[in-house]
Amino acid sequence: MHAVVIDAGKLHWRERPDPCAGDHEIVVAVRAAGVNGADLAQREGRYPAPPGWPPDIPGLEMAGEVVSTGEAVTRFAPGDRVMGLVGGGGQATLAAVDEAHALAVPDGVSWPEAGGFMEVCATAFDALFGQARLTVGERVLVTGAAGGVGCVAVQLAALAGARVTASVRDRALHDAVAELGAAEVIEPEAVTDGGPYDVVLELVGAASLPCALRALATRGRVVVIGVGSGARLEVDLLSLMTRRARVFASTLRGRSRAEKASLIAALGARVVPALAEGRLRVPVTGTFPLRDAGSAYERFAAGGKLGKIVLVA
Ligand SMILES: NC(=O)c1ccc[n+]([C@@H]2O[C@H](COP(=O)([O-])OP(=O)(O)OC[C@H]3O[C@@H](n4cnc5c(N)ncnc54)[C@H](OP(=O)(O)O)[C@@H]3O)[C@@H](O)[C@H]2O)c1
Repeated sequence: MHAVVIDAGKLHWRERPDPCAGDHEIVVAVRAAGVNGADLAQREGRYPAPPGWPPDIPGLEMAGEVVSTGEAVTRFAPGDRVMGLVGGGGQATLAAVDEAHALAVPDGVSWPEAGGFMEVCATAFDALFGQARLTVGERVLVTGAAGGVGCVAVQLAALAGARVTASVRDRALHDAVAELGAAEVIEPEAVTDGGPYDVVLELVGAASLPCALRALATRGRVVVIGVGSGARLEVDLLSLMTRRARVFASTLRGRSRAEKASLIAALGARVVPALAEGRLRVPVTGTFPLRDAGSAYERFAAGGKLGKIVLVA
């Protein structure tokens, strides 16, 4: 197979041995693989792959056709269209995926959309519903809402009957984010005067969270998922106490096989139907050939995009 390979902080297109399917794994001929901030951080040596995953082939999500299956695989057969979550190695022409971390791609969903689905949907779904327990009628603030996770979070929250405020710094993207179901799209500076928010999905980090905390409702929940703008800040603990607030924070990549399997099963049951029916979409701003991952990473880093950048084979 060929793979995007990180070597000395640069991306290369290299030949690598084909993966073999372990007992519970399927090997997928990759048609599309989403780019994530984690890939860029891994290229810079700041986010190594967890043990058991290719240390130098990036890629946390992909979609394609099953080419072979392990002996214990029951859900998929060669030829099936699947999308999968991996701890690394997704940006290659072949990738091995645990069958419990894969879902069937609904008919009519394009390869780029499927390739960019798993990481952002699993992250947004788990944060909003697994951690913050967002419910119908609540107010939610999604910061960094024009990005990959944000675009999906806005839609999932709106579909669940929450009132969504999206914070987006690029004015040119406000209308597009509103079309995803946000009741209001505001600039980050306006967050403090808004709310009160029952749930804050923090995708930006230190540059954003202080304003969001000031607008948190009594019994509000904050989920910290992204810290691209910085990971350190001073917090007024008293204001959290008086609000009886709860703060959650998590990463997805390092979770156990079982934890990921139960999250993916919930995605399959509760989110994929919306994707299949066109009530949820994964906006894709640009696609790039897999062998030209460098250009895709450059586009991702430039910002000002709606949703995802996806590599296609
Ligand atoms: N914890 C986890 O398991 C997990 C999983 C997936 C992603 N993440 C993290 O979650 C974050 C969001 O992921 P993503 O895939 O949505 O990334 P993304 O597509 O790059 O989106 C990030 C969004 O945040 C905006 N933004 C960045 N810095 C900002 C600032 N200082 N002020 C206001 N807005 C700012 C960006 O705006 P511009 O386009 O204008 O730059 C962009 O719209 C990233 O940090 C990512 O690494 C964490």
